[in-house]
Amino acid sequence: MKYFIDTANLDQIKEAYDLGILDGVTTNPSLMAKEGIKGEEAVYNHYKTICEIVENGDVSAEVTAVDFKGIVEQGKKLAAIHKNIVVKVPMIPEGVKAIKWFTDNGIRTNCTLIFSAGQAMIAAKAGAAYVSPFIGRIDDSGWDGIELIQQIANIFAIQGIKTEILAASIRNSLHIIKCAESGANVCTCPLDSILGLTKHPLTDIGLAKFMEDAKKFE
Ligand code: E4P
Repeated sequence: MKYFIDTANLDQIKEAYDLGILDGVTTNPSLMAKEGIKGEEAVYNHYKTICEIVENGDVSAEVTAVDFKGIVEQGKKLAAIHKNIVVKVPMIPEGVKAIKWFTDNGIRTNCTLIFSAGQAMIAAKAGAAYVSPFIGRIDDSGWDGIELIQQIANIFAIQGIKTEILAASIRNSLHIIKCAESGANVCTCPLDSILGLTKHPLTDIGLAKFMEDAKKFE
């Protein structure tokens, strides 16, 4: 499974990259707004900087238009920023049409706001490189997000679908483990959830003891 970081914060992206495990980045309009980036030029420059930090990793940049023409116009501009930009398109009929257009024109897409297997299937059929089921938001609504990952992974395996399952809306480290177990190809995570994978209280206790004993033969 690949590890993406789910943020537009440059310091966090650098920290995850420096860990040596980062495969890519996802952003969305809310994450961009959180960084206080305003205006088309500033937004494009920010995406370019992110692409340069992660070097060979895919960077999802989301369109804000909801009509076919607008999505295509924005997507073309986003894709022109850097070869690693993946155009993030919402799961709506106009979005599906746009994904097909991007596929036919050699532009890779990530279909976002996926909450059902049917949505994932249609996005894949249109040629999306990634589909993004929102695990945490499904859990928040009283359903099981991980079950959706399992269902999509099962369908894609049976049907031989090459679209990658990009588990999104990750809330904690256990989500990441469950996504790996359930067949997600990619997990996009907040930095804390990634760092949480490195932690265990017994590791801390064991390390403290080793450090204490190491002093005896220094
Ligand atoms: C990433 O692609 C999604 O936009 C993001 O994971 C959504 O996360 P949230 O549900 O925490 O906003």
